[in-house]
Amino acid sequence: MTPELESFINTHKDEIDHRLPAYIMDLECPQKLKEAMIYSLKAGGKRIRPLLMLASISSYRQIEAEDYKAACSIEMVHTYSLIHDDLPAMDDDDYRRGQWTNHKVYGEAFAVLAGDALLTNAFAMIGSLSQADDIQKVKLMNELSKDAGAEGMVGGQAADLEGENKLLSQNELEYIHYRKTAALLQFSIAAGGILGRAPEQDLKQLRLFAQEMGLVFQIRDDILDIEGDEAEMGKATGRDEGKNKSTYPSLLTMEGAKDKLYHHAQQAKASLQSTSAYSALLSAFVDYTVTRLH
Ligand code: IPE
Ligand code: IPE
Ligand code: MG
Ligand code: MG
Ligand code: MG
Repeated sequence: MTPELESFINTHKDEIDHRLPAYIMDLECPQKLKEAMIYSLKAGGKRIRPLLMLASISSYRQIEAEDYKAACSIEMVHTYSLIHDDLPAMDDDDYRRGQWTNHKVYGEAFAVLAGDALLTNAFAMIGSLSQADDIQKVKLMNELSKDAGAEGMVGGQAADLEGENKLLSQNELEYIHYRKTAALLQFSIAAGGILGRAPEQDLKQLRLFAQEMGLVFQIRDDILDIEGDEAEMGKATGRDEGKNKSTYPSLLTMEGAKDKLYHHAQQAKASLQSTSAYSALLSAFVDYTVTRLH
């Protein structure tokens, strides 16, 4: 990790960690729902999506206090996706972020509801941004609904489930990865551009960057599911094989998967070169994603 990236993460991650539960604490809703939402938000996690949003903003202007609110909104959507991903009806996982999965503690119904509420409230958070103008807010909501919805993350999760117990082609696997993982990274990075009033041409390049980065992120996740350390990652390994999922390592061998990882990391960096505000920080995020251990 470059010193610049390390200091960026040190500066902003604590702020994100503190603010996330605070936003939920203020909501007027049944106590158990609130607890279930806060339980998964407080469990930790790398906060890569909000950090990417802040890094993307910082290519165009200084980060302001309200940017944390926008950044926390994508972490809420991501956390919802994890709570639902772990349900018995989906990946059926017991551990997440170093603790019991949400449904193990609050039951399946409350895990579903906590996820629903995190998703819906994320839009309310964007709506309540006071520094962004209405056009920026509508753009953010549009992008988020697309990237999180049927054409984005949810569509990818559906295709991922349908792909279990089948031998997928590399194209089919790419389709899944672009949607289930890259789509939320795309929102994070494009939202940073929107909030920073990046030129339209930059937004295009940033989305391409995020798509490549998303593939890198999920290929690394699939590699860590085989090679990773459970304690370090805070989730069980060997789950993809257990569920008979096609992954880059299963289709291309471990060596082939690592070649793809480096290839897409290069592609990501190439897209970044064509933006008007080159970001050494976003480039450092790519290298971190290639080598991350959790
Ligand atoms: C896990 O995401 C799910 C994937 C899309 C691979 P992260 O690896 O970002 O999980 P946390 O947020 O750090 O727990
Ligand atoms: C999940 O992918 C991606 C989303 C939650 C959208 P995985 O199922 O591989 O994520 P992990 O390994 O459980 O974190
Ligand atoms: Mg899954
Ligand atoms: Mg899973
Ligand atoms: Mg995985």
